[in-house]
Amino acid sequence: MPKASATAGASRKNLGQFFTPADVAQTLVQWGVRRSTDRLLDPSCGDGGFLASHARSVGIELDEEFAKAACQRAPGALVHGGDFFQWAAATPERFEVVAGNPPFIRYQNFTGATRKVALESASRLGAKFSALTSSWAPFLVVAASLLRPGGRLSFVVPAEIGHATYAPPLLRALCRNFRRVQLLAFREKLFPQLSEDCWLLYCDGFGQASDGIHLNAFERFRPSARPPTSDRFVSLTEWEEIGERLRPFLLPAAGLELYRELTKSRSVRRFGDLASASIGYVTGANDFFHLRRSEAKRWGITWHYLKVSIRKSDQLCGDTVDFRAVEKWMARDEPVLLLDLKQARNLPSSVRDYLATEAAQTASSSYKCRNRDPWYAVPDVTVPDAFLSVMSGKRPLLAANDAGCVCTNSLHAVRYRSKESQAALDFGWASPLAQLGAEIQGHPLGGGVLKLEPREVARVPIPITKLPVNRAEESVLQECLEAARSWRHCA
Ligand SMILES: C[S@@+](CC[C@H](N)C(=O)[O-])C[C@H]1O[C@@H](n2cnc3c(N)ncnc32)[C@H](O)[C@@H]1O
Repeated sequence: MPKASATAGASRKNLGQFFTPADVAQTLVQWGVRRSTDRLLDPSCGDGGFLASHARSVGIELDEEFAKAACQRAPGALVHGGDFFQWAAATPERFEVVAGNPPFIRYQNFTGATRKVALESASRLGAKFSALTSSWAPFLVVAASLLRPGGRLSFVVPAEIGHATYAPPLLRALCRNFRRVQLLAFREKLFPQLSEDCWLLYCDGFGQASDGIHLNAFERFRPSARPPTSDRFVSLTEWEEIGERLRPFLLPAAGLELYRELTKSRSVRRFGDLASASIGYVTGANDFFHLRRSEAKRWGITWHYLKVSIRKSDQLCGDTVDFRAVEKWMARDEPVLLLDLKQARNLPSSVRDYLATEAAQTASSSYKCRNRDPWYAVPDVTVPDAFLSVMSGKRPLLAANDAGCVCTNSLHAVRYRSKESQAALDFGWASPLAQLGAEIQGHPLGGGVLKLEPREVARVPIPITKLPVNRAEESVLQECLEAARSWRHCA
């Protein structure tokens, strides 16, 4: 089990302080170390789990308390306290092995001087990361640059390496610099207490190049003295063709092959050819801006200033949002009436009274409200043709908007490109091909949730007429869909 630290929960998460189980750390060290004389670097050594597995080790650790713990746990190792990126920029030392588990700090918290040095150092090494990059990706690039020719890199990595938009610069940099790049995915979590899944990365032959990535899909982690032979080799060309994502290659090969063939069929269009999907409005203070019917009545706010909203995807039941559904929400007095003042001129006293309450004061000081003028005019409120869930459980839901509703950013506002598009989406959305496409183009968020960003929705293949597949092929697609769901822990 990963160890708890004395650091408080929130800051522990901010520094990515989740430690590697001993059997995983020992295995990664064994994969990398060839001789007892090899020097090993753990660039974010925590309390020294990796350092303790090899005598000739050097560790860097930002957190003083953990740096001290690492010295005690691995007395033979040299431990430097401080920021790895600063240390790496100055050190002349080089290593046969770099191994560890880099801090997983999302871009919102990966800020300041550390991020600046990290992104600049990675860029000098040929990996250009966007500002949305999490800390671990530049960590790996800079750590690799401290290897001697022929050296090995052996790390725990977030499973996001299989789909994140910042994974491609990292994977390209690894392929440019190592003779062999291998990723090992595990269906059973390596860190059961984290919502993120983790994989293992092993690279060998620093100073040479490779034209693809070896991939293994395992049920669970098992210790081993050597890295296992790979299940499949994914060429960079294949990886590019599927949108620079490795995750789809975990799926049964026959299903993925059939998926790729069908997406080229004349019976299939991309969602983006048929419709646009954009995220719904953001109020900045949902409780204030969404009223119950009883509240609107009490304040005397008329329908002229209200729109019925789909606030959460749970409101979508069935493939249409109709007036019967709206009546049901009204009868239950649900807070689904959006106060829509964007187009309003000369606000009536009823609305002015509501905007003068204490709740309004609190709402107006929220980040979004403070940054718009007037603070109460919610932007981007439109009545779309249909709604699509942004985060989904078993499957993403698409429902036609027959009741003139609007939607929050928990949903995509969908607009058909033509009348035929509506018929095509009605026909194809629930098909196994489109559902598999949503799994392949979308990404897992942890806890069994599938998230679809607008650019991901646009790439989902939609059959517009019956597909040229037989019964056996239908089962292949269905099995592939179930496998995709099980990789994101959705039964
Ligand atoms: C995921 S933990 C891994 C610790 C250890 N390698 C293990 O696997 O047990 C990441 C560690 O990186 C440290 N850290 C965060 N940012 C750092 C930085 N810029 N330089 C060095 N260490 C850092 C954190 O304090 C944390 O102990």
